[in-house]
Amino acid sequence: MSFYIAGTGMYVPERIVTNDELATMVDTNDEWIKQRVGISERRISTDEWTSEMAYKAALCALENADCKPEDLDYILTASVSAECVSPSTACMVQNLLGATCPALEVNAACSAFLFLLETAAGLFARKRAKKILVVGAERLSGILDWSDRSTCIIFGDGAGAAVLSCEKDNYLDSVVTVHGGDDVIKIPHFIGCSPFFTKENDSPYIHMQGQETFKYAVNAMCGDITAILEQNHLTLDDISYIVPHQANKRIIDFAAKRLKTSEEKFYVNIEHYGNTSSASVPIALDELNRSGRLKRGDYIILCAFGGGLANAACLLRW
Ligand code: COA
Repeated sequence: MSFYIAGTGMYVPERIVTNDELATMVDTNDEWIKQRVGISERRISTDEWTSEMAYKAALCALENADCKPEDLDYILTASVSAECVSPSTACMVQNLLGATCPALEVNAACSAFLFLLETAAGLFARKRAKKILVVGAERLSGILDWSDRSTCIIFGDGAGAAVLSCEKDNYLDSVVTVHGGDDVIKIPHFIGCSPFFTKENDSPYIHMQGQETFKYAVNAMCGDITAILEQNHLTLDDISYIVPHQANKRIIDFAAKRLKTSEEKFYVNIEHYGNTSSASVPIALDELNRSGRLKRGDYIILCAFGGGLANAACLLRW
């Protein structure tokens, strides 16, 4: 027993920050960002916490799935930029929705939405749930060094959600990989002020080796998509859409080229939101769902990569 995606939702803050506006803050320009990353603008929260954005995306997904908060059996969320370590974003969303089910958070950075689906699949398999809400939500603007042009131009804020339901076994397969280590991508925590602790840490912002991340991302995406296809005796011709993590348009273009498929096979919206980490795949999925381009029965692949290093992909029947 697995699940199908009964509804999707998203929320992004109103405030749009364009490349031109960023160019007034750091030494960059619209042309460089569009060419090297494929981003024109991103949404930045001015007065909403991560859990509030998560709640709004959750409401949107519940409405799309025609599901009430009291019908939920679990709430699973993911974030690297929550306002609190505890309560988790999941507990905050449970409270805001007025739901009563268990709620927990998973940390797998930009791949986390895929890890949420895998976690949910386990709960469905144990027959512990009929309906599960999954949400990826980020206020990455709060963990960016706004004087570092190699990171502050890439990321954005937002939330994406989905309601998973047990009536159909449409979560068909997945691959999940972790190469643990902090040398390529790292977001250190505030280390506290213990008078007994003698170690130092980097500043509590996103640190990233751009080119290493780029190479890892292309290899991870191509490897995971190929594995999913081979495991299920499918080719890319059988897949209606690939919904990738939106980290850099050039990563997606490189992957499309290496997989010998057209860029149109990939749903891409990075131009408007930048990289929203755990929210990126569910935001893209919601847009694709609402665009009317997916038909029930279509095969789609979701894939993501990022901090951990963690990467994953899954095959879904829509
Ligand atoms: N504006 C203008 N110039 C910039 C710039 C910016 N925002 N950021 C870097 N540069 C400059 C560099 O200083 C360098 O200048 P130099 O040649 O004079 O030394 C030049 O552009 C090239 O820098 P480089 O770091 O090689 O650029 P890049 O093509 O690798 O692009 C990233 C940088 C970060 C956009 C790219 O590496 C990337 O997207 N990596 C993957 C990031 C990612 O996916 N992260 C999320 C993982 S979930």
